[in-house]
Amino acid sequence: MTTTRPAGLVPGPAIYEDLRRLAGSGPVVKVLLHGRLPAWLLTRPEDIAHAAVDPRLTSDGSFLSDGTSSVKFGFMGVDGAAHARLRRSATSALSPRRVRALRPYLHRITDDAVGAVLPAGHADLVTDVALPIAMRVICELLGVPVDERDHFQGAANEMLVPSGDRAPARLRLFDYLTTLVRDERPECGVLPALAATDALSEWEVVETAALLLVAGYQTTADLIGSAMLALIEHPEQLRALRDGTSTADKAIEELLRYCGPMAIGVTRYTKEAVTLAGTTIPAGERVVLGLGSANRDPHRYAGSDRLDLTREPAGHFSFGRGPHYCLGASLAQLEAEVVITTLCRRLRGLRLAAEPVWHTTIFSGVAHLPVAFTAVHGA
Ligand code: HEM
Repeated sequence: MTTTRPAGLVPGPAIYEDLRRLAGSGPVVKVLLHGRLPAWLLTRPEDIAHAAVDPRLTSDGSFLSDGTSSVKFGFMGVDGAAHARLRRSATSALSPRRVRALRPYLHRITDDAVGAVLPAGHADLVTDVALPIAMRVICELLGVPVDERDHFQGAANEMLVPSGDRAPARLRLFDYLTTLVRDERPECGVLPALAATDALSEWEVVETAALLLVAGYQTTADLIGSAMLALIEHPEQLRALRDGTSTADKAIEELLRYCGPMAIGVTRYTKEAVTLAGTTIPAGERVVLGLGSANRDPHRYAGSDRLDLTREPAGHFSFGRGPHYCLGASLAQLEAEVVITTLCRRLRGLRLAAEPVWHTTIFSGVAHLPVAFTAVHGA
């Protein structure tokens, strides 16, 4: 069943409420994504899981009949064998070994960032902690000197705005990354390894680097920001994490389910007319996989709107499904675990100092999370 007048669907503080309401109107609902892009929203976990592997749907936005551009990058917008080839080459950049090796670095930069805000007794957990840490990790991964991050941080941010012309930012970002690849400067980043494989052209290396950057840092910072906000709003859950009633692994899985940043961030396009859950969608249209809706499905998760860090994980949808499943999932989990557990351990009496400010990108997350706390030195 579809609604006659499409509802606007915009990431932000009301996204889960909006998704619950829309799920009530059926498994396939016509919406205006970001308030302006016509799309078909899938609301049920089983339909989303099927759509993610359905070859009649593509990740390539050029199939759109309305000509609106897509934010997809590199192999995120490629299907089939070409996607598999590019993804295989990038997999080594985020291998379990490489991710594990980042743990001591992450602890160090997290302790530094949290240590720096401790004496003041107040901080913005996004701009002082989550964003700089997520950005540093990507710099470390790509071998970008941290003092050069301004070259691409602004461009990367512009790429995530849902409207407007992204071409100039894209050009700036690609120029910088091309120089980085050609200079062979990075000593410990993944670029030399990517560039050395015969499997990728220089352009493909640059595109892959841009994808890792754009896919990897705002999402992770958003998860940390939303998770901290959720924990402040549920102090008993924060205590469960602090006193060990919930393990860090379980807690991060539940926080990803409860407030993952890509609630409506995954789109596909119909290559042909496709009937999904009883609704026929014409060729050349946008389909939104409602990951946030699947994550709050009451048949899959008892008390699905409740945050419960002791819940047995039942497999969330926040990293997607199918061949495009998030390549950086284990890195994101590690970052979230280290930063969130450190914040909960070292900042006591954590409370909001002012209303959080939500940003307006393609992801759901807060741009500012002003908090006050009592420091725990040496914790
Ligand atoms: C909490 C943080 C993160 C979330 C919620 C997240 C979520 C997602 C989702 C839902 C997809 C699937 C997109 C699709 O099906 O079209 C995806 C793909 C991807 N993610 Fe993540 N991501 C996160 C962090 C990261 C990090 C840290 C990296 C790497 C540094 C990363 C790299 C990628 C890449 C390369 C893809 C494309 C995979 C492909 O197309 O084969 N992500 N992510």
